[in-house]
Formats: sequence, structure tokens, C-alpha cells
Amino acid sequence: MFMETNRLSNKLAKALNNQMTNEAHNAQIYLAYASWISDKGYEGIANFLFRHANEERNHMMKILEYILKRGAKVTIAAIPAPGPDPVSVNDCFEKIFKSEVENTASIYNIVNLSMAEKDWATWNFMQWFVKEQTEEETLALDLLAKIKVAGGANAKADALYTLDKDLADTPDDATLAQDVTVEKP
Ligand code: FEO
Repeated sequence: MFMETNRLSNKLAKALNNQMTNEAHNAQIYLAYASWISDKGYEGIANFLFRHANEERNHMMKILEYILKRGAKVTIAAIPAPGPDPVSVNDCFEKIFKSEVENTASIYNIVNLSMAEKDWATWNFMQWFVKEQTEEETLALDLLAKIKVAGGANAKADALYTLDKDLADTPDDATLAQDVTVEKP
């Protein structure tokens, strides 16, 4: 008699596989924007976005490993194209924020599913992504705040030059609000 070793429901396996594609799609978006902005001469911002593309691939791998660990099937699907290039640095950062918010909605959907199924292993696994999305949204908001200071949609070349230098040294991860203490504001 065949013993069932798959610990994921079909529904959750499908949602997690789909999320892998979302993360790969996000990596493509960051790669596309990084290439676009590198072509414009902003190597600092490009470098920041290239590094972030790697983070998105890591997110994909984390989910892939989890699906395998739970005995379910991994399906590698086609990655949708990243869409049109941004029209400005401002537009680029706005698009990044939008795609991160969409990704958060997709993560929350899996959390909801795992809760409905009482699959606490998946629920627990997904909490890392819930926290990560808070960080990613903060990072995107930081980018938007920086471009706003530089003049937003009307940012001038010298302000963008400073922003480019600034982002070359920006760490990949934003400081999570949860990690902030009175001693370490
Ligand atoms: Fe993997 Fe930027 O979310």
C-alpha cells in the first residue's frame, strides 16, 4: 500500500508554486529596471537594483525548498515579462512600490489559505515572508521618499546624481521597525 508523504494540500502546493513564479517575476522586474537605469548612467541605483534581483531569486528558492521538504511537487513555470521600462527614475520607484504591494497581497493570500486549512507548518513558514514584505515595502517607501526629496517627477540631474551615489552604498535590507529599540532607534 502506497504511503502518502505529501504534506501539502493541492491548493496550497498550487499557491506556493505560483508564488515561486511571482518571486521570479519580481527578480525579472528588478533586472529589467536595473538594466534600464544602468543604461541611463546611474550605476549606483542600478547596482542596488541588481542586488535586489538576487534577493528575489533567493525568495523563490526558499519556497522551492519548502515545497520539496513537504513532499509536494515543484513545477517550474514560465516567468511573465517584466512589462514596459519606466519612463523616469520616479516612475521606476513607483512601479517597484506597486509590485511589492501586489506581492504582499499574494503572500497574505497564502497565509489565509494555510490558516483556513489549519496547515500550521505552512502558516509558520509564511511568517518569514510576511516580515520580509514589511521590509520590502519599507525599502520601496524609502526609495520613494528619496526621489521626492530629489524633486520627484521633476528631479534634476544633479539631485539624481547625489541619489545615485547615495544608493550605491545603501544596504539591501531596510531596518525593520520591529528591530528598532529605545537603545537602537
Ligand atoms: Fe520577494 Fe520583493 O518580494
